[in-house]
Amino acid sequence: MGHAPGGVDVWWFEDVTAFVGTDDLLTPEESSRAASFAFEQDRRRFVARRGLVKCLLAAQLGCEPTEVVLGFNAYGKPSLETGPYVFNTSSSGNSLLLAIGRRSEVGDIGVDLETMRPMPDALLIAQNFFTHDEAAELGSLTGDERDQAFFNCWTRKEALIKAVGSGVSFGLDRFSVTMLPQESARIRQVDGRPTTWHLNAWSPSPQHIAALATPIEPTEVRMHQIAVAT
Ligand SMILES: CC(C)(COP(=O)(O)OP(=O)(O)OC[C@H]1O[C@@H](n2cnc3c(N)ncnc32)[C@H](O)[C@@H]1OP(=O)(O)O)[C@@H](O)C(=O)NCCC(=O)NCCS
Repeated sequence: MGHAPGGVDVWWFEDVTAFVGTDDLLTPEESSRAASFAFEQDRRRFVARRGLVKCLLAAQLGCEPTEVVLGFNAYGKPSLETGPYVFNTSSSGNSLLLAIGRRSEVGDIGVDLETMRPMPDALLIAQNFFTHDEAAELGSLTGDERDQAFFNCWTRKEALIKAVGSGVSFGLDRFSVTMLPQESARIRQVDGRPTTWHLNAWSPSPQHIAALATPIEPTEVRMHQIAVAT
């Protein structure tokens, strides 16, 4: 599979449950995790997600999906045990995003996906978890504009903490991001200092919103859409 030098490839699956037959690709640990889900729908989503991720990583590495070995950091971030590639995934309902790049070109990466929906608690969440400036900016908006800005902010912040790999324990109030539709996606500051972290933001579908964070600006972000023929 081709890789543009310095680029990040992003795969978008609107409905992973359309992909079946990936159970055999799971390790015993992954099968145990799958079996532990209380709802069948969550089990199917996990099995399909993990199988698809292994298939695409295998295509990148030139090996079989069952030969893809994942390791996990202390906060649960998965990574490839060997090879030059970094990846990250995010899911929302049946949908999945998978981003793959080369560590030497873009550093470690984080991606986040959310489904747009009304967020009556947007301001409350911002006041409790975001910076004062971000909460104030959201507070100056109303209705759909506030919901849109909230999801812009949320996906961009999640993408950064997922790139860092420490999850929400990193502290969502340690850094601020742009959120207004007319502004380009950008991290304004981290711990009060300017930063070289780079953000890409886009809508994979009219209902979804996504962000990708990288320590080094990618030369390009190539989108790939994979759907099952019906
Ligand atoms: C990582 C985290 C931000 C994900 O949030 P989310 O919005 O619920 O989920 P997303 O769909 O965006 O991402 C999930 C995917 O991110 C990846 N992931 C898991 N942990 C991750 C981490 N710490 N950093 C980056 N990516 C992570 C996995 O591929 C996961 O996919 P899977 O569920 O199919 O295995 C959140 O779960 C978190 O903060 N986790 C940290 C947990 C922690 O601190 N544990 C401490 C153990 S001591």
